[in-house]
Amino acid sequence: MSSRGQDLIRQLAEDHTLSSGELLELLLLLEEERMTEGRGPLAVLLGEEADAVRRQYYGNKVYVRGLIEVSNYCRNDCFYCGIRRNNRDCERYRLTEEEILECCREGYELGFRTFVLQGGEDWNFNDSALYNIIRRIKVNHPGCAVTLSFGERSEESYAALKAAGADRYLLRHETATKTHYEKLHPRAMSFDNRMHCLRVLKKLGYQTGCGIMVGSPGQTPENLMRDLEFIRDFRPEMCGIGPFIPHHATPFADQRAGTLEQTLYLLSMIRLLVPDVLLPATTALGTIHPRGRELGIQAGANVVMPNLSPDGVRKKYELYNNKLSTGQESAQCLADLKARMAAIGYEVVTDRGDVNRR
Ligand code: 5AD
Repeated sequence: MSSRGQDLIRQLAEDHTLSSGELLELLLLLEEERMTEGRGPLAVLLGEEADAVRRQYYGNKVYVRGLIEVSNYCRNDCFYCGIRRNNRDCERYRLTEEEILECCREGYELGFRTFVLQGGEDWNFNDSALYNIIRRIKVNHPGCAVTLSFGERSEESYAALKAAGADRYLLRHETATKTHYEKLHPRAMSFDNRMHCLRVLKKLGYQTGCGIMVGSPGQTPENLMRDLEFIRDFRPEMCGIGPFIPHHATPFADQRAGTLEQTLYLLSMIRLLVPDVLLPATTALGTIHPRGRELGIQAGANVVMPNLSPDGVRKKYELYNNKLSTGQESAQCLADLKARMAAIGYEVVTDRGDVNRR
């Protein structure tokens, strides 16, 4: 195993930072190892350090969030995404306020104390519609956290939703390199606005989540270095990363998927850079490998987000090919999830799981 690599990992684990040059060096060593042997000793060492740091902050706890996919209408046309506006094959749906509240009720009964409302950038979910939904969730389930994931909105809108009681907001930055951002998105979308939104969310007091797709088309080690620098400096409360998986009805249909191994070592690096970050083992990770989510937890992740959406719409929220929509993915299988996590020494807990920032 590369001794330079070991040194960099130890330094990262101790100081929770590396210079940009060192980040790139470590990324290149990990990538070289991955190309020759898949998950090799450097990645394993990194994973062990990440797991140890996560234990310092969160013990062996794994937090669950109930994900409700409220709409697959989207005004955007991201090249990678299955619910992009120009995908005419996508059967569109939108949950009603009552349906969303019913999902929360069922989730609450199952033990969920965080509800993540996610949707495309659907004009129908304007501020007043979302305001009412958030208010009603907060009245029905006091003490529960509400997380929003509705893309880019104005500062006024983010502020209004915060005033309604929203606690957290997820908005992946997708890539911290402007030129790469422009390869993944049409001209109508702006890298600068995405970054602006993230800063606004943080300023307004949201627990804020950024994140990337691993192995998105054209992604280089230098791009990943920029992502890690951004994460190091922005210090998000949450960070969502998962492998890019092509969707058949998008311009990226024929691109290669990101890998399990690369996602795992990046999860570990993020854990070490931001020790208290809430880091999900994502659905995409569970989709590319049957034990993806367990492996993600073992590499430093500490959140899983089972699906609370009504059965009939789950398949329609198809961001990428073969997205998990049954089995372990469904909240009804929470017992199964608990058993799987217990089998590898982790405890699924149902408290709100706010960030342990000190
Ligand atoms: N593969 C993996 N992740 C995807 N997302 C969108 N499309 C894909 C895909 N093809 C992710 C994006 C987005 C989040 C909601 O889903 O990172 O921010």
